[in-house]
Amino acid sequence: MTKIEKFELNDGTSLPAIGFGTVNIQGDTGVNSVLTAIDAGYRLIDTSTNYMNEGMVGEAIRRSSVPREELMINSKLPGKAHEYDKAIKMIQESLYRIGIDYFDKYLIHWPLPKQDKYEEAWQALVDAQKFGLIKTIGVSNFLQEHLERIIEKTGVTPATNQIERHPYFNNNALVEANKKLGILTEAWSPFGREINDVLENETIVKLAEKYRKEPAQIIIRWNLQNGVMPIVKASSFSHQKANLDVFDFELSKEDIQEIDALDKGEEGRVEAQHPNEYEEFD
Ligand SMILES: NC(=O)c1ccc[n+]([C@@H]2O[C@H](COP(=O)([O-])OP(=O)(O)OC[C@H]3O[C@@H](n4cnc5c(N)ncnc54)[C@H](OP(=O)(O)O)[C@@H]3O)[C@@H](O)[C@H]2O)c1
Repeated sequence: MTKIEKFELNDGTSLPAIGFGTVNIQGDTGVNSVLTAIDAGYRLIDTSTNYMNEGMVGEAIRRSSVPREELMINSKLPGKAHEYDKAIKMIQESLYRIGIDYFDKYLIHWPLPKQDKYEEAWQALVDAQKFGLIKTIGVSNFLQEHLERIIEKTGVTPATNQIERHPYFNNNALVEANKKLGILTEAWSPFGREINDVLENETIVKLAEKYRKEPAQIIIRWNLQNGVMPIVKASSFSHQKANLDVFDFELSKEDIQEIDALDKGEEGRVEAQHPNEYEEFD
């Protein structure tokens, strides 16, 4: 089992430097994937009401030989529950679906600024933390202006912001803005899901050969050395293990810059989901 390095958060908590993503893993197959991931060494499991697999994650927690308190379970608030009362109910219901009595980390999934209720949703997370339902509170897909608004309104800074980030859309300006506010960036779809070909990209493959590592490991390292926590999804055990085998090498500054140069701006997003435009309610 690989021991994973840690990131310290602004609320005093420390998180494993790599999280395990669960998009598109369901049912028994999903339970097996999460169980092998835990065996490989992952401790932070990222789910969401939207992924329709919170029950599956709960089953994996119950079947795992690793005690609940050693696992860190993260879920996310859907757009339909941004109103204060609904948010509190949603958090309680999500906990029951998973079969746990607190979340280690819980995020607002998308800001949905056109609905203009994310401030209320953030207040609900702030209070849910006080009620003991959540240990660490954060957001996802928030732009700088959304972050500044909730901080000003509540006086509470999110501990993490989970955003799209891979070599074709490195989101570096937002990573920098998060850093200035004391917020840890989490990177979603670090390998561009199955949508883009970043794992076959010439530069990434060349660097993999140079460091005698896999393309995926180069991308994980690029995140870690930028102070970013990648949330990686892998259903196969060999990928799960490989993605943790990243603590024995370091990319040079020049190589990091070469990866940064692969950025395609807005064009690079996997599904053109600009946080000011994209709306998802479930
Ligand atoms: N907050 C948000 O709005 C948001 C949005 C999207 C995703 N997320 C989170 O981020 C997580 C990761 O993103 P994602 O699931 O979209 O995709 P991803 O992690 O970018 O890519 C997953 C794909 O990469 C493959 N892969 C993994 N390790 C590999 C390796 N070492 N070599 C070659 N291929 C490898 C996987 O294959 P196998 O499965 O076959 O192993 C799978 O096909 C999600 O699961 C979710 O938890 C959050």
